[in-house]
Formats: sequence, structure tokens, C-alpha cells
Amino acid sequence: MDLRKYKVPEIVYGDKSIELVAKYAKNYNAEKIMVVTDQGVIDAGWIKVIEDILNDNYLKYIIYKNVTPNPKDYEVNEGAQSYIQEKCNLLIAVGGGSVLDCAKGIGIVCTNKKDINEFEGVDNIRIPMPPLICVPTTAGSAADISQFAIILNTPKRKKIAIISKALVPDVSIIDGITTTTMSKELTANTGMDALVHSIEAYVSNASSLLTNIHALEAINLINNNLINAVNEPYNMMARNNMMMGCTLAGIAFSNASLGIVHAMAHSLGGLKDLPHGECNAILLEHCIDFNFESCPDKYKDVYIAMGGDPSMESSEVKKHLTEKINQLSNSIGIADSFEHYHIQHHELEEIAINAYNDPCIVTNPRNAEVEDIKMIFEKLIK
Ligand SMILES: [Fe+2]
Repeated sequence: MDLRKYKVPEIVYGDKSIELVAKYAKNYNAEKIMVVTDQGVIDAGWIKVIEDILNDNYLKYIIYKNVTPNPKDYEVNEGAQSYIQEKCNLLIAVGGGSVLDCAKGIGIVCTNKKDINEFEGVDNIRIPMPPLICVPTTAGSAADISQFAIILNTPKRKKIAIISKALVPDVSIIDGITTTTMSKELTANTGMDALVHSIEAYVSNASSLLTNIHALEAINLINNNLINAVNEPYNMMARNNMMMGCTLAGIAFSNASLGIVHAMAHSLGGLKDLPHGECNAILLEHCIDFNFESCPDKYKDVYIAMGGDPSMESSEVKKHLTEKINQLSNSIGIADSFEHYHIQHHELEEIAINAYNDPCIVTNPRNAEVEDIKMIFEKLIK
């Protein structure tokens, strides 16, 4: 049997689970809390909800809100400085993947007293972070589950992947209501990110039974609920199913890792500061086209999980699976190329090299060289 490891946080989910945030903070002996968030989450009203709960429980807190999409190294370092100055002893992160990743970064910088960019790579965290409670407000990143944090190294204009079990939060409080305030565009982009997590985890060469069952159910849930979640923001069945799909995908990819789609999305998104989910969604069908022959049976399982015909010959599956993904993407308003971002041909070399060096590419089922990656990008910049 292949050697594998598996780690998940304590997961609390369901209606009104957000109200348990103070109980969990007390369980971890909170004396002063840093709530990490961003302006979008504040504007959506979720920080007011959290503040009311903390105030009702006489818990002291400060708010760090200077997080932007594709969280930057200086935001992490600034948050960590403030955490230390204010003598906080617990983190609550309320937001999407950027906020959750920034909070993880703040946690490890505080305890290890090193610049965030020094943690790049796998297993480079020596001292655990303070207790971290996550309240995700998007159904996409699953950073509340995963052992990943993606931070933008601004001097190098490159996203770094920090991967360690030390980044798995202590508690993830998952309440679908927090996703009802997402815009259509954010719902679409984050939902496609979750779909890519589940597919890449399933075909990863580090997958196992423990991750596969979660990945396949995630594909099924996301495929059946994403369009409704985009079109009907207050459809709680769709929102809850997307949250569950995203969580299952998180359990899968946190333990099986990802692949070429994420390696390329990190590289491109880092250099041009682009939305992560959209990058993944645009890349997905082209990366399946590249990977398919390395594991056709696995892609057939993905196709079946998306409602495809189980009796179809594997040789036919590639065409039908990529069509299905393309249809889903188009129906929720995602572009089919990067044309609108005006990426220049001369930028491709650097983007391809950074993707080639991204840790996510290690578990891709097919070996990809810099030239292969460049070829995929070339099809998409037009
Ligand atoms: Fe992702």
C-alpha cells in the first residue's frame, strides 16, 4: 500500500454555526483576539455579526482589515506586527481565501519571527501558530481546511505556496449563510476554484481512497449546485451544497495536493494580480486536454461524477468532459481565454518558469516541461 498522510481541522457546520465562534474562542483561552478580515466582508455585514457575538461574550478583540485579493507579503507582516504589539493570543479569520491565507501567514510570522517569504515551500514551519478559528465567507478556497497558504511575494511579483500541516486551522466554522452576500462573479469564480480543487486532487498522483471519496462527491455537489448558487443568491440549498462541496474538495486537495492548473494559475495570477478562481476556470479544460492520456480512467470517473454517461468509451470521454466544463463555465459568465487581460507573448517565459517551479506541479499526473506550459498559455492569450 502507498504511504499517505491525512490531516483535517475540527469542522463545525450547519445553520447558525457562526454563533459558536465565541464558544470556540473561549475553549482556546482567548484573552485578546485579532479578527482578520477585509473591507468587502465588513461591507457585507459579517464583521458586525462577529463583533456582536464577541461583545455579548465579553471577549476583547482588535480588527485587522488591510487584506486585499491575492494577499501581499507586506499585509501579512503588518498584521503580525499589530498582533504582537496588541498582545493578542488567538486569531479569528472571517473572509474568503485571501483573508484566511493572510491570517495563517500572520500566525506563523508571529511565532517564528521570520519574514513571510522565508516559509516558501513544503514543511518550513518550525513553531506552530497561535490558535486559528476560520469562518469562511466564500465557497471556494477551502483555506479553512487546507494545509496551504498562498501569499504574493511583491518584490518578485510571484505567488509563493507555503505548505505545512502547521497551517491547518484549529477550527473551521462553516455557515452557508455567509456566502449569500457574494456577487454573482465571486460565486462563479470561487465555485470553479472548488471544482478545480476536487478534479486536481482526484487525478493527483498523491491521491488515495481517503481523498478520492471526498473529491468525487465534491465534483457531484458543485456540478449540481453552482449554477443555482450564481443565479439565486438566497437559495440556501444551493449555497449549503456549494459550501459542503467546497469543504469536501478542501479535504481532498489539502491531503492529495493539486496539479498543473493551480501551478499555472498561481504563476499568472501572481504576476498580473488576477482573480484566482477565474484563472483556474479558464485553464481547466486545456490542462485536462494536456493531462488526459496519463489517467483516462480517472477522468472518466470525473465525467461520471459530473453526470456523464458511465457507458461511454474512455477514448470519447476527453471531448465530452471538456465540453461539459466549458458549458458550465460559459453558463456562469466566465471567459474562455485570457484575452481581456492583454498578456504579452514576451511575458510567457517568466510565467511558465514560475509555474514549472510551483510545488503544485509535483503531483500533476503528467510531467510538464516549461515548453508544455508555455504552449498551453499560448492557446489562451490570443
Ligand atoms: Fe484554488
